[in-house]
Amino acid sequence: MTKVLVATVKPFAPAAVDGIRKVVEGAGYEMALLEKYENQQDFIDAASDADAIIIRSDKANAEVISGANKLKIIVRAGAGYDNVDLEAATAKGVVVMNTPGQNSNAVAELALGMMVFMARNRFNGTSGRELKGKKLGIHAYGNVGRYVAAIAKGFGMECYAFDPFISKENIEKDGVTAVDSVEALYSSCQYISLHIPANEQTKGSINADLMNMMPKGATLVNTARKEVVCEDSLKKVFADRDDFVYISDIAPDCAAEIAEKFEGRFFFTPKKMGAQTSEANINAGLAAAKQINAFLENGDTTCQVNK
Ligand code: 3PG
Repeated sequence: MTKVLVATVKPFAPAAVDGIRKVVEGAGYEMALLEKYENQQDFIDAASDADAIIIRSDKANAEVISGANKLKIIVRAGAGYDNVDLEAATAKGVVVMNTPGQNSNAVAELALGMMVFMARNRFNGTSGRELKGKKLGIHAYGNVGRYVAAIAKGFGMECYAFDPFISKENIEKDGVTAVDSVEALYSSCQYISLHIPANEQTKGSINADLMNMMPKGATLVNTARKEVVCEDSLKKVFADRDDFVYISDIAPDCAAEIAEKFEGRFFFTPKKMGAQTSEANINAGLAAAKQINAFLENGDTTCQVNK
């Protein structure tokens, strides 16, 4: 029997798991569930007889892929697929997909929610600031960037975006000003929200030069991946500028050092929280299950990322 493994260290909401099970079993497949596992070996073992795998940030590395001899497809229920070894998958003829857009609103709501939280001094009772009238630079205008712009406009923020892969027209039709360079974005916006993927070009690319270009009262918001921000730069900018605030969905590796020296100027989620809503779990989980069915039944490769 065709087996679909759902492997999630950070489980989906129960309603999403129920929905995935309905889709998988409705297609006549068997569903296996591996949640909150502590060792990668548990994932490797569970994957060994799977035809299809649904994951979140779980590491679908070469060992998982090479040990899964029936495997045909991996779907990352979410946007970023930096946790999948694409080379190993392609070499084995395994299709890899993501579910673009399905959890984007949840991530965007968290970005704005954390901005309000920090602007209001973490709700500690003192006078804070408003977002209204502030300039927000959206670094990469994909699915999350679009939702961020829509919500930020509701707050009365002035939105700017830089994305070399999206035309100026496509950005400006949303009432967002497209800028021509990353430098132009950072030098004009007090708030910057990161929505770039983590890859060889972007890892460590948010450096001191860029952060120092931000106007007074700078707040950098990272709901993308911690790896895109250069941590040596981050520590230096924190030390050089007492107006700099960093908000990140998942703590940087240097969190303890920052916490010790820069109290009140950062907020880090204890766990990656961006896509942690029932709605996002249901949207992304069900999309993943349906994409697997469509691929296994009809060879549909929409959303394949290792073409
Ligand atoms: C994504 O890339 O879709 C988000 O970072 C969410 O990741 P998660 O599913 O591991 O929470």
